[in-house]
Amino acid sequence: MVFNSSFMNFFRKKKTSKYPIAGKVAVITGASRGIGKAVAEALAERGAKVVIGDVLDTVGQTTTENINKRYGSHKHKVAVYQHTDVSKYRDLIQLFAVAEKEFGSVDIAILNAGTTKNMNALFTPLDDELEMAIYEVDVGGVVKGNKVAMLHMAEHGGVIVNTASMAGLMPDIYLNAYAACKHAVVGWTRSLAFVNKFAGIRVNAVCPGFVDTDMLNVPREGPNREPYADVAEVAPKTPMPVVVEAFLRCITDPSLAGDLLLALPDGVKKQPPYRPPESLTNKQMEERRVKYERELKAKDKAELAEAVKRFKATGR
Ligand SMILES: NC(=O)c1ccc[n+]([C@@H]2O[C@H](COP(=O)([O-])OP(=O)(O)OC[C@H]3O[C@@H](n4cnc5c(N)ncnc54)[C@H](O)[C@@H]3O)[C@@H](O)[C@H]2O)c1
Repeated sequence: MVFNSSFMNFFRKKKTSKYPIAGKVAVITGASRGIGKAVAEALAERGAKVVIGDVLDTVGQTTTENINKRYGSHKHKVAVYQHTDVSKYRDLIQLFAVAEKEFGSVDIAILNAGTTKNMNALFTPLDDELEMAIYEVDVGGVVKGNKVAMLHMAEHGGVIVNTASMAGLMPDIYLNAYAACKHAVVGWTRSLAFVNKFAGIRVNAVCPGFVDTDMLNVPREGPNREPYADVAEVAPKTPMPVVVEAFLRCITDPSLAGDLLLALPDGVKKQPPYRPPESLTNKQMEERRVKYERELKAKDKAELAEAVKRFKATGR
């Protein structure tokens, strides 16, 4: 069979063409300030509608107003704020519902909210709630946010970007609980590469190095002195435009799924995929894996359709 060149070009173009930002609707958590705010502004500048969810309401409302003043018109707003504690399904479900109600869709979800509260947990009191608080936000906020986002994207596809950290790839002798959380975000994101194959939803993560935001504002003096502050003060910083570029690439590059982009002081770099030691696998296992992936793809596809039905019927 002979295909003419314009027919072949259509497929070539489709494979490499960038995912467009203009006209898309993005939900962003933790965007009242810092990295989330910079990403929300960059998306609005490129023609997206943004829905910001945060616990810092006054700051978030000001950020939203400024985005509307700059990129909207008095007839058409381009940004909306919704109070959201990312550790709560109730709030996340509401946040995504607001995006559908205000702008008719959810195409991009950025699960960026994070905290360093109790980041060093080695010798804190043996208290269940205190122990898990950082995991509820830094891990729970990402996992729960991804699950709600996938239900909204199931019928038309989309892109999810999680904010991890370089602390998700390296040990840290001081930020032990924070590093554990960010390792979890990395593991979760890489494990979700498969979702693109059956649902057309790409899930990626950005791992920034040190970025000059309020998060680095830790006390250097007094009873609450954090010894880590001395290191953070002089550490090479990733400029905010580099961090934003990493998020935009995660969104627009159709070849990225289950990938990590490092936002480093000298630019954006793609983290190579993890290659397991050879002794962990063999030919027979690899052959079975092909069949397993085929089966899983069909199973996951059916389960996602079922989950969407349940969500529409019960809100859960
Ligand atoms: N600043 C850095 O050096 C750095 C480096 C690597 C990764 N990160 C990650 O980047 C993300 C953004 O941090 P940032 O540097 O902009 O700091 P930031 O403190 O300025 O921003 C964090 C935002 O998350 C919000 N937030 C916290 N808890 C929340 C909750 N329960 N529900 C909803 N929102 C909540 C805060 O109110 C704030 O607006 C975080 O996930 C952080 O871990 C930061």
